[in-house]
Amino acid sequence: MSILVTGGAGYIGSHTVVELLAAGYDVIIVDDFSNSSPEVLKRLATITGKEIPFYQGSILDKTFLDKVFKENKIEAVIHFAAFKAVGESVEKPLVYYHNNITGTITLLEVMTGNDVKNIVFSSSATVYGMTNVSPLTEDLPTSATNPYGYTKVMMEQILNDVAHANPDWSVTNLRYFNPIGAHESGMIGEAPNGIPNNLMPYITQVAVGKLKELNVFGDDYDTHDGTGVRDYIHVVDLAKGHVKAVKNNLANKGARVYNLGTGHGYSVLDLVKAFEKANGVTIPYVIKPRRAGDIATCYADPSKAKRELGWEAQKTLTDMVRDSWKWQSQNPNGYQL
Ligand code: NAD
Ligand code: WQD
Repeated sequence: MSILVTGGAGYIGSHTVVELLAAGYDVIIVDDFSNSSPEVLKRLATITGKEIPFYQGSILDKTFLDKVFKENKIEAVIHFAAFKAVGESVEKPLVYYHNNITGTITLLEVMTGNDVKNIVFSSSATVYGMTNVSPLTEDLPTSATNPYGYTKVMMEQILNDVAHANPDWSVTNLRYFNPIGAHESGMIGEAPNGIPNNLMPYITQVAVGKLKELNVFGDDYDTHDGTGVRDYIHVVDLAKGHVKAVKNNLANKGARVYNLGTGHGYSVLDLVKAFEKANGVTIPYVIKPRRAGDIATCYADPSKAKRELGWEAQKTLTDMVRDSWKWQSQNPNGYQL
């Protein structure tokens, strides 16, 4: 029996594949490479010493997906495949709603048709919308400020409704906070297309000389140094959270939701200073106006995941900034060789 990982060639998916194999699960990857590279599969083979079964195609393609399910014994799905750029989702809402929502519905239909009723879903802290009451707990109302965020709110709802309609389903929605870092080998990591939107890849690209300086979006927030505070979590800790969630799904039916964060908030300048100290590099920065849609502070209450899944983030901020830099410095152009 295998775990199907959609979007398994992506940033979080690839790290999760490593942890699933380490925990003894068999894995099958589906990815259309719309935001990733075949090079990831070679790196995964080197890290794990295994050739991982891979199907190239889109989760929007029902015939393709059905073939994957017919050719394999799949017992659960971890569903990462989605588009994730907030700004792009504002410019191309239909592309985002189609890929993320129609893609998920298609996957759920194919799962139903093949009697697989077990799914772990990549949700996001973005579903807390503009709620500025950290630490955030899972029982807070969900909302969104952009089409990407709405796709996550809607997909959580769809999955909860599916589990509600049929008690044979096991559904876990995992709300990630801000994943950064990379595998300790430096062989896999985050490889954004074009100029990064997120803070950590922007910092690493300044460090490697691809970008001149960091723009710090606002220094007048109500935080300890005026810059935005977030809950950065090491991607390997996040990946391990998926292994715990899949194990729990295999043992328990029903729907549940967990925050995956560290419970600690760090500011933009905390992250810059930690990066400089751990890696011995300087990150020039300039203060810019606030970015539309940002809140001052966002960090998790991760106690539910600890209580119910036995999962807790282990890695420190120093581990995160060190591993991010190892990946970027070894791969200045990401997976483009
Ligand atoms: P990513 O873009 O690196 O990975 C997503 C993968 O899915 C890519 O390899 C892409 O090629 C693939 N994909 C996209 N659409 C597909 C389709 N229709 N069919 C098949 N494959 C498809 O992103 P990531 O950072 O690894 O994020 C994974 C998931 O976690 C996403 O659902 C994202 O929304 C969610 N998430 C990410 C973050 C973050 O900050 N990275 C935070 C919260 C939630
Ligand atoms: C972090 C902090 C910025 C870039 C986003 C998505 C969210 C989730 C995670 C998927 C903020 C500041 C950033 C820069 C800066 N993704 N910043 N200069 O906004 O917390 O969350 O990624 O689900 O949905 O919205 O992350 O890394 O963009 O920003 O000053 O060049 O860094 O203002 O305070 P964010 P981020």
